[in-house]
Amino acid sequence: MKPIKTIFSFMLLGLVLGKCDNGTGSSNSPSLKAGIAKSDWGIVEGKKVYLFTLVNDKRTKVTITNYGGTVTSFITPDKNGVKSSIIIGFDSLQPYLQQPPYFGALVGRYANRIGNAKFTLDGKTYQLAANNGKNTLHGGLKGFDKVVWDATTPSDTIPSLVLHYLSRDGEEGFPGDLDVTVKYTLTEDNGLKIEYNATTDKPTPVNLTNHSYFNLSGDVTNSILNETLMIDADYYTPVDSTLIPNGEIQSVKGTPFDFTTTKKIGRDIDEVKGGYDHNWVLNKKGDSLQLAAELSDSISGRTMEVFTTQPGLQFYTGNFLDGKFINRGGKPINLHTALCLETQHFPDSPNKTNFPSTILKPGEIYHEVTIYKVSIR
Ligand code: GLA
Repeated sequence: MKPIKTIFSFMLLGLVLGKCDNGTGSSNSPSLKAGIAKSDWGIVEGKKVYLFTLVNDKRTKVTITNYGGTVTSFITPDKNGVKSSIIIGFDSLQPYLQQPPYFGALVGRYANRIGNAKFTLDGKTYQLAANNGKNTLHGGLKGFDKVVWDATTPSDTIPSLVLHYLSRDGEEGFPGDLDVTVKYTLTEDNGLKIEYNATTDKPTPVNLTNHSYFNLSGDVTNSILNETLMIDADYYTPVDSTLIPNGEIQSVKGTPFDFTTTKKIGRDIDEVKGGYDHNWVLNKKGDSLQLAAELSDSISGRTMEVFTTQPGLQFYTGNFLDGKFINRGGKPINLHTALCLETQHFPDSPNKTNFPSTILKPGEIYHEVTIYKVSIR
């Protein structure tokens, strides 16, 4: 796309969406043009919250709010061309303020758990808030999912949104000013690309992820236990009863954790107490972008590939979903009706010397990329 056309498209999208679509419904509007549109979504702690709608040339649509950096929908066609969101969520800000369990959110400063809510770094012990039993989960009481990010929309040739947040020294107990930038891009081949960058002025643990819940059928009345999954991982990290890794790196062979060849998610789930909520050690070598997982759904014909530079993948089968929150369209989000594929470093790494380090030092740049790419098979 030529730049001049892009600018025109952006303006046009603004006009089109402004009039007939708030950017979140499962609209099949033929007038939808590629680009990005911005609409007011409310105010939180005196800061303006917006909803951004990214549309590519295929008319695939992603909506993202700068409240929590949350992806609220990812609307793609099924095998019959019918569009719906494969990410659960809400079409207004209010339910996001009721603290749903991280629906679509950017999670930090440390995604996943830190055991006993503390870690020691360079001889000093840092006490964090225990917001998950005695452990810290997803950054603490007010993680990156509950703050308003600054948002800019670069006039790239493809629709993208840049979010920025400065996490202050001491915030939720973590050391150092952490400067975080996350760029969301909707690619031409229907990939939701997420690029994370961060720098710090003191050594600090950093683990950033996105906590979108997927149901590829686009309908939460369909259980995700019928979807099929491949995870390219020969090992996983077993956990204790509070979901803190015991430090072992264990082979998946002969266990319900073996997803090396595609299988139905529900096939062995009964053998895992509480359901899947574990970190898989990806087979990838180094930090290049590689395929980590592939999820498919036969009802809609959709397949989603997950590519990442990260070493781990937390696969969570929505074990704590209990119908308390209602998805767009009015259906309750019940147990096992959505799943997460959270690309990240291993849980509790700050307390596990044998896990890849999550410590970012001054002068270093934290950089991770994940792509969720949807197609019809
Ligand atoms: C993560 C955790 C789960 C759960 C959800 C939110 O995926 O691993 O145990 O806390 O977040 O409910």
